[in-house]
Amino acid sequence: MTRWAGFMAVAMLALAAATGVLLRFGLYLGMPSWGENFNAVRHAHSHLMYFGWVTLGLMALIWHYLPDYTGEAAPRAARAQLIVTAGLALASFPAFWQNGYGLTPVAGRALPLGAMVSGFNGLAWFWFIWLYVRATRRLAMRPLPVHLWDWGLALMLLASAGALGVAATAMTHSSSIFLQQFFLHLFLDLFAVGWFLLGLLGVIWAGLARQGMQLPHLPAMSLAVALSPTFVLGMSPAAVTSGMLWLAAIANGVAMALLARHWLALWGRRSHLPLLLWFALAALGVHLLATLTVLIPGVWRWSAGTQLRVYVLHNFLLGWVSSGLLASLVMAVGQAVGSTVARRWQVTTWGWMAGVTVMLVALAGLGLVSLIPVAPLVWLRLAAWSSIVPATVALCAALMLLPLGPHTRQPHEEWRIREHAV
Ligand code: HEM
Repeated sequence: MTRWAGFMAVAMLALAAATGVLLRFGLYLGMPSWGENFNAVRHAHSHLMYFGWVTLGLMALIWHYLPDYTGEAAPRAARAQLIVTAGLALASFPAFWQNGYGLTPVAGRALPLGAMVSGFNGLAWFWFIWLYVRATRRLAMRPLPVHLWDWGLALMLLASAGALGVAATAMTHSSSIFLQQFFLHLFLDLFAVGWFLLGLLGVIWAGLARQGMQLPHLPAMSLAVALSPTFVLGMSPAAVTSGMLWLAAIANGVAMALLARHWLALWGRRSHLPLLLWFALAALGVHLLATLTVLIPGVWRWSAGTQLRVYVLHNFLLGWVSSGLLASLVMAVGQAVGSTVARRWQVTTWGWMAGVTVMLVALAGLGLVSLIPVAPLVWLRLAAWSSIVPATVALCAALMLLPLGPHTRQPHEEWRIREHAV
């Protein structure tokens, strides 16, 4: 199950990354006629990354590691749930491609295909949450990975309320910039800094526990609570009062301090982590430092007028979340089918790290173009050409995970409750 779902998730990463390459070249050469609506294609890219790559990948890994704590195999319905989640995530790509959240003519009727498919995706996530709650409700104590997943899923629910709000403001044609910004960022930002961050931390700690490591006591609930209001920092300054800004900035400072405890604990165990997770941790470290700068008065308002948002977003989502998830998936699949996959993967890791680093440097350059005397076109070209590398590596990784090998062994016989983790 892990290998099949991992393959689907990485295949969707490859497709969404190829779309990102198209967008990157589109930014200075113009978009082709078959994808001329830049904003709609950007929605197709970001939603496939969110729904198909990260959400499906995290769910597959949670089902992979959860039996270590429940002592029981993943529920039978987990396979169907992953198949439905994968199918609906894939459907979001054509649904957004033409008109994004706008109306698309289908059989003589104008339908909000993007909003509709997002709603159906939400139902598949609720199914996952329901199965997860049933599988874990009898646990007397909740070890660190389970605790992180609990709170990651709670923030996913909160972010889903934002998705409902986005649909409601679109359907009622609300002209309130505040409501539009509030719901959009509640959904997009909290989904990423809440569900992705806590879900991935849980997966990495579960991977270390499976290697026999003692799990430390680290924050989960307090981290989730502190992260909750930080989505306000993604909103346009025109829609944010100074009271809201300071609440979000202070909460962000607290969240980053709590996150730094995870970072330090993981960095201290780096000899047990693959090289790509070191890279992911480096990107998380940069994120920690970069987001702390919003505590400096004036920096947030100034940065909102630059392209820095695209850099910060991709440093977090590509540098940290995607590198960490890719490394965790390859590790987990390697454990389930033997080490061949993990060994082959070593070769491509360097390509990923080099391509992502150059792309992120170019995005940072674009964001700081008013401070660095380099023409924006140079950064745009560098970002576009370097983006081909991670997209190609994603395709190679998908081919590596192609579930055709005859050697998949059933790991449920080895599942044990790990007392040290409780
Ligand atoms: C090879 C990797 C990637 C490339 C080439 C790429 C490219 C792009 C481009 C060109 C944009 C539009 C930027 C603009 O409007 O100026 C964009 C936006 C975005 N990307 Fe990516 N991206 C990549 C990876 C990712 C990943 C891994 C994620 C999430 C897991 C992601 C999520 C997003 C989001 C949320 C937006 C903003 C969407 C919006 O504001 O509507 N991207 N990306």
